[in-house]
Amino acid sequence: MSIKPLVILPDPLLRQVSEPVANIDSRIKDLARDMFETMYDAPGIGLAAIQVGVPLRLLVIDLAREDEPKQPQVFINPQIVESSDERSVYEEGCLSIPDYYAEVERPANVRVQFIDGNGKDQEILADGLLATCLQHEIDHLNGVLFIDHISKLKRDMVVKKFKKLARDRAPAV
Ligand code: NI
Repeated sequence: MSIKPLVILPDPLLRQVSEPVANIDSRIKDLARDMFETMYDAPGIGLAAIQVGVPLRLLVIDLAREDEPKQPQVFINPQIVESSDERSVYEEGCLSIPDYYAEVERPANVRVQFIDGNGKDQEILADGLLATCLQHEIDHLNGVLFIDHISKLKRDMVVKKFKKLARDRAPAV
């Protein structure tokens, strides 16, 4: 197990569309374990494989609070098959856009089909924070970020800030 480096805005990897997972083999199980370790270390409540540089349709979520037992959930090839007309608003953040938060409006409930960590087909009707988190993470699999759901003005400001940070981080040559 190991903590993986996170892919940070404006890395173009974040705009890549991830490929379906074909086989749930030991490589995928190891990747999911590394993703949990990376997410818990950050800390965060959701992580998509592309955020550790792997363009596969795999995400991990754990919504347990700090004082609760861990509730790790693996979603492989997740698909939203139904979204409610009812909307809800949550303040979202993203491990690939550190220290930036903004309110995002999304469908309040979603029905999601996926394969779990044991290779079993599953379907859930998610609401509340899980619904928002699943939509945020599934967006990552399609190269979409939560800042795409805010105003262009705000988004441009965030992207500009992270481009500058990336430049400042780059080693001088
Ligand atoms: Ni994110």
